[in-house]
Amino acid sequence: MYNITVVAGDGSGPEVIKEAEKVLNKTAEIFDFKLKFDDYLIGGIAYEKYGKPLPDDTVKAAKNSDAVMLGAVGDWKYDTLPPEVRPEKALLGIRKELNLFANLRPAIVFEELVSSSPLKPEIVSGVDIMIIRELTGDVYFGKPKGVETVNGKKTGFNNMIYNEDEVRRIAKIAFETAMVRDKKLCSVDKANVLDVSRLWREVVIETSKSYPEVELTHMYVDNAAMQLIRAPKQFSTIVTGNIFGDILSDEASMLSGSLGLLPSASLSDKGVSLYEPIHGSAPDIAGLDIVNPIATILSGAMMLKYSFKMDEAYKKIEKAVKDVLKEGYRTKDIMSEGKVLVGTKEMGNLIVNKLGE
Ligand code: IPM
Ligand code: MG
Repeated sequence: MYNITVVAGDGSGPEVIKEAEKVLNKTAEIFDFKLKFDDYLIGGIAYEKYGKPLPDDTVKAAKNSDAVMLGAVGDWKYDTLPPEVRPEKALLGIRKELNLFANLRPAIVFEELVSSSPLKPEIVSGVDIMIIRELTGDVYFGKPKGVETVNGKKTGFNNMIYNEDEVRRIAKIAFETAMVRDKKLCSVDKANVLDVSRLWREVVIETSKSYPEVELTHMYVDNAAMQLIRAPKQFSTIVTGNIFGDILSDEASMLSGSLGLLPSASLSDKGVSLYEPIHGSAPDIAGLDIVNPIATILSGAMMLKYSFKMDEAYKKIEKAVKDVLKEGYRTKDIMSEGKVLVGTKEMGNLIVNKLGE
């Protein structure tokens, strides 16, 4: 029996989580294991109940479970809250509390959806990129930070900072990942300008000595942003810092046609990992049975693969998703002419049924 802490969060988070649970339960039935889902609050909904977006109970439950599944946090109605209690703070908080320093964001273009991408089919067809984003350091958490009056002017500042250990541990995960893919790793930095990036590059090169089979390249982040659109197939595994990874992974999602398709896994070196779609809470379409549950369903599949080492179950879910797409079913975000439009729940049901076939 695996105990899963579920933090569905705000906006469309609960809707997509529900579909992922359905798919996981069906998978558990097929492969004969048991999952227990326990709901806890995170984000704006937690703020409304407890006055803070990341309640202690939630952190405690997460730490004591086998894995955590997260929907999404945030809503415009919380935009005017002080920064310390904004929903986003809970996301950063839980990443830090669980020491989830490695964020795996696969950007895979499903053949069935090549035409959903805004890019030309010949550019995106066959894209299979794994972005490994450092998740607990960088300008996101660096100190000093704040807004102060300096020489009579309001001045805002954050600190882009990494120590060598932080770079080394994410580099190791990246090389290990590249080893089981096609042994190509591209490290993205801004070493032509930033000191922190020069250290990053130095440590990545030093780490590469333990992985002589991996072909390591380096790219400046501005060039990487351009190359991702120009010729995405040149990339296989990418490793980068927190903020560059945040930006590049949103960009990479459009290769696949929709932010609603991409899952993610956030791992620590030991202990509990967290699985969430890379998209946000989409408050504008929440509750309307419109949002695409596939990113969250695939995040659940990643949980089976990375936390519970169930490779077969992972593949079975991925195949069910592809088959349903192949049959022409589409949520609104990936809809195109001649296809069958379905809602959130129906997409979940179709994938569940496909698993059972
Ligand atoms: C993401 C999101 C978060 C981030 C926000 C919501 C804090 O954009 O997971 O990519 O910046 O990390
Ligand atoms: Mg982001």
